[in-house]
Amino acid sequence: MSNDKVFENILVRKDDGVGIVQLNRPKALNALNKETMGEVIFALEMFDADDEVGCILLTGNERAFAAGADIKQMATATPVDMLNNPFIDYWDRLRRIVKPVVAAVSGYALGGGCELAMACDMIIASETAKFGQPEINIGVIPGAGGTQRMARAVGKALAMEIVLNGRFLSADEALLHGLVNRVVPAELYLEEAIKFAAEIAARAPVALRLGKEAVNAAYETSLQAGLALERRLFYMLFATDDQREGMDAFINKRPAEWKGQ
Ligand code: CAA
Repeated sequence: MSNDKVFENILVRKDDGVGIVQLNRPKALNALNKETMGEVIFALEMFDADDEVGCILLTGNERAFAAGADIKQMATATPVDMLNNPFIDYWDRLRRIVKPVVAAVSGYALGGGCELAMACDMIIASETAKFGQPEINIGVIPGAGGTQRMARAVGKALAMEIVLNGRFLSADEALLHGLVNRVVPAELYLEEAIKFAAEIAARAPVALRLGKEAVNAAYETSLQAGLALERRLFYMLFATDDQREGMDAFINKRPAEWKGQ
C-alpha cells in the first residue's frame, strides 16, 4: 500500500512509533462524510501494514473529534442509497485493524463521531470532551454501533438515556462510567495521547496483537470459549523470539529488544 496518497479530509504523520490520523474538516466540526471515512480507513489500514508503527492514534481538533455522520450528505438518502453506501461498513473495517488504536478526543464526539471513538480500543479524553448519540434529535437512531457499544461501555440505564434522550456525557462522566481511559488537561490532550500511544507502540508487537484479540473476544464469546482462546494465544506466544527475548531480558535485568517475530 502506498504511503504517498494525498488526503483531502485528514492529516497523517508518524511520531515515535505512533501512526497519527487527524480528521481535518474543521468548518464542519469534522462531520464524517463518506469521503472522510474512506480516507480514515485507508490511513488506518496503511498504518496497520507499516512496520514502523506499533500503535495508531485517531484524533480530531480541539473543538471537535467529530460531530457525527454528515447530516447534509444523508438528508435525502433512501434505504437503498444507505445500503449501497460503504459508509457504515467502514466501522467494520476499523474492527479488523490488528494494531491497538487509541482515540484522542477533544470537544464534540457525537453520533458517528462517538461511534468512531468507541470503535477504537482506548480513549484519551480532553477535559472538554462531550460524548453523545443525539441521532434521536434528527429522527433516527445510531447506525454505526452506538446502541451496542454504548450499552456495553456504560450499562443499559445510562445508554438508554443517551440514545433515547440525546443526553451528552462530560469527560468526567465518561471516565466514571468506563467509556474512556483517562481525562487530561485540554491544552495537553494530544501530547498526552501520543505519549500514551507511544508507550504501547514500544511493546512486543505480536503480544500486542494477540492481547487485543483476546480482550475483544470477551465481548463476543462465552467465558469458557474466551478462556480457551486466551490459552491458545498464550501458548502460541511461546513460539516467538520476543517471548525468549522478554523473559531473558527480565532474568538478566536488561531492557528487552523486540523484533516482532
Ligand atoms: N453533519 C454535517 N454538518 C455538521 C454536523 C454534522 N453532523 N455537525 C456540525 N455540522 C456543521 C454545521 O452545519 C455548521 O456548518 P455551517 O457553518 O455550514 O452551517 C458547522 O458544522 C458548525 O456547526 P454549528 O454551527 O451547529 O456549531 P454549534 O457550536 O452551534 O453546535 C453541535 C455544535 C452541537 C455539535 C451541532 O453542530 C450539532 O448538533 N451537530 C450535529 C450533531 C449530530 O446530530 N450528530 C449525529 C449525526 S447522525 C449520525 O452520526 C448517524 C450515525 O450514527 C452514523
